[in-house]
Parts: sequence; structure tokens; C-alpha cells
Amino acid sequence: MHEILVTLTTVVVIGGSLALNIIGRAGWGARKPKFTQPMPNPVPFVVIHHSESPGACTTTSACIAAMKSMQNYHMDHNGWADIGYSFGVGGDGNAYEGRGWSTVGAHAPGYNNKSIGICLIGNWMYALPPDNQLQTVHQLIQYGVDQRKINPEYKLVGHRQVTATDCPGDRLFKEIQNWTHFTPKP
Ligand SMILES: *[C@@H]1O[C@H](CO)[C@@H](O)[C@H](O)[C@H]1NC(C)=O
Ligand SMILES: *[C@@H]1O[C@H](CO)[C@@H](O)[C@H](O)[C@H]1NC(C)=O
Ligand SMILES: [Zn+2]
Repeated sequence: MHEILVTLTTVVVIGGSLALNIIGRAGWGARKPKFTQPMPNPVPFVVIHHSESPGACTTTSACIAAMKSMQNYHMDHNGWADIGYSFGVGGDGNAYEGRGWSTVGAHAPGYNNKSIGICLIGNWMYALPPDNQLQTVHQLIQYGVDQRKINPEYKLVGHRQVTATDCPGDRLFKEIQNWTHFTPKP
């Protein structure tokens, strides 16, 4: 089991003691996309989302179940090609590959071909995601910059700034307004 996890996971150590753990599509049992459209890198935007439902997950098996349920809903109910987000991030501290760095997503109309869409699994209307989940989002963005997938001058926005929605929740939106690349008027 341990060996399987190692082969399906990208572990990246960035400074400090916490490692960024990106679970690839095979690692969470993603379905095959119906089609893909390449996205040019580096992208100039990062869009922050919450899942609202499914709710927060704190174990890897629960976060995998959340990724699968979002993918099923996006493909079978919305009729999309795949899960809409570029990445999910769970309360287990793992990042989960959705469409990834270089495939156009379906998460923020007008921004899908020039952004990485990151979904913090859970409903963050009134509660703040736990530190490990927020930390993983920061590490994932930094890794994307280091890998030249995200422009170092990227602008970070909440979904509600570009679409009429409550996403990413009032409390999380308040939090991201304090992040260095946050842009009030995208
Ligand atoms: C994204 O899509 C829009 C609308 O089709 C297009 O005008 C724009 O050039 C595209 N941007 C990139 C980076 O592909
Ligand atoms: C915003 O960031 C500053 C500087 O990092 C920090 O001191 C402050 O506590 C933060 N405020 C909130 C509301 O998170
Ligand atoms: Zn959203």
C-alpha cells in the first residue's frame, strides 16, 4: 500500500518541514475526461473556490470521496468534460489534481483558459479552513510559480469577484483578501 501511494503521489518539499503532497488523478481514481483543451502556461490568475457541498473532509479517504463526488456531479449533472477545478485541497492537507496545471477548466467563466482554479473542499461561509489546508494552498501556488505554470506576478481572486456567487464563502473570502497577490479589481 505504501509503495502504491508513493508512485501515485508527487511529494515536493518546499522550505520548512511541511511537504506539499499532490495526489494525481490516478491516486484518487479520477474518471477519464470526456475531452481536454490545452491551457497555455504560465497563467496570470489564480481563482479560489470552496466546494460548499461536499463538506469539509479531514481524512484522505473522505477527501477522495469528495473529489469523486464533485467529478461525478460536474460530468453527469452539469455535463462538463471533467471535474471543473484545476485542483482540490482537502482538510487532510493533501492537494488533489483535477484538470491540473495545463488544461482549461470549468470553474470561472471568462477565466477558465487563463487561471488555476483551486477548490478548498468544505463550506467556508462562516468557518475558516484549518491551517494545514490553507498552508497547502499557499504551497501549491508557490510550486506552480516555481514550475512556471503560474506567472510570478499572478493576480489572486475569489470566485465571487468574477461570477455572481457566494463562493468561496464569506469567511474564506475575508481571509484571501489578506493574501499578498489578492487583487480587489481583477
Ligand atoms: C481565452 O478565451 C477567450 C475567449 O474565447 C479568447 O479571446 C482568449 O484569447 C483566450 N485566452 C487564452 C490565453 O487562450
Ligand atoms: C493579515 O496579514 C497580516 C500580515 O501577514 C497579519 O498580521 C494579520 O493578522 C492578517 N489579518 C487577518 C485578518 O488575517
Ligand atoms: Zn467557486
